[in-house]
Amino acid sequence: MRIFREKDYDAMSRRAASIIAGETVHNPGCVLGLATGSTPEGAYKYLVDWYKQGLISFRGVLSVNLDEYVGLAPDHDQSYRRFMQSNLFDHVDIVPENTRVPDGLTKDPAAFCAEYDAYIRSLGYVDMQLLGIGRNGHIGFNEPDDHFVKETHVVDLTESTIDANARFFASRDDVPKQAISMGIGAIMGAKKVLLCASGEDKADAICKSVCGPITPNCPGSILQLHPNVVLVADEAALSKLIAAGVEV
Ligand code: F6R
Repeated sequence: MRIFREKDYDAMSRRAASIIAGETVHNPGCVLGLATGSTPEGAYKYLVDWYKQGLISFRGVLSVNLDEYVGLAPDHDQSYRRFMQSNLFDHVDIVPENTRVPDGLTKDPAAFCAEYDAYIRSLGYVDMQLLGIGRNGHIGFNEPDDHFVKETHVVDLTESTIDANARFFASRDDVPKQAISMGIGAIMGAKKVLLCASGEDKADAICKSVCGPITPNCPGSILQLHPNVVLVADEAALSKLIAAGVEV
């Protein structure tokens, strides 16, 4: 795993954006696996900025997102589809039909999840998968469990994830209790993984994911088995790794 140690959120965002931009330049028809949440917001801002300067293009890019809340319509202000539109897709030249976010309103989740995986397989898997990480080590919404789930699936969000995401909703009760998440199979099938983290509240999850035991109790730890992971993190998110003596 290659680790980029950045001084703060902005530097982390710029580095992550430059890695994604590099992928679009070297492979204009690439498949990007995309994430939502606070972590990638800054990187998306850089990408929009560079697009507006004419430095990069998303015209040939295909995207698949990691997850979506069950029960939220695409235009709900906290849906992940809406997040992607307002943070990236609406501001760049990506072809709308080439963007996929799981359907939180699907009437047949099992069929939807199977189709999502079939679509990812039909693309030959993702070229570069962008990941944030939960305080509890989740990647996508693969929550700590006693086993890894390979396929796209409906997941019950843990209390810790509901607490963490309550900041985006009017009240904790408004946070959806379930999500559709890409499984560990599609994430591990990506040719490259770009894991990003910022802030001290991620330090434990990063430390366990990078050098703890590989266990479904900390889903991010499975990335130790992936041959091409780049971790971009700020000092605060790396603090426990550094304290453990890992050279970064
Ligand atoms: C989002 C996702 C989640 C987040 C994680 C961290 O699409 O898959 O795994 O990356 O919950 O969220 P933030 O970045 O808001 O701290």
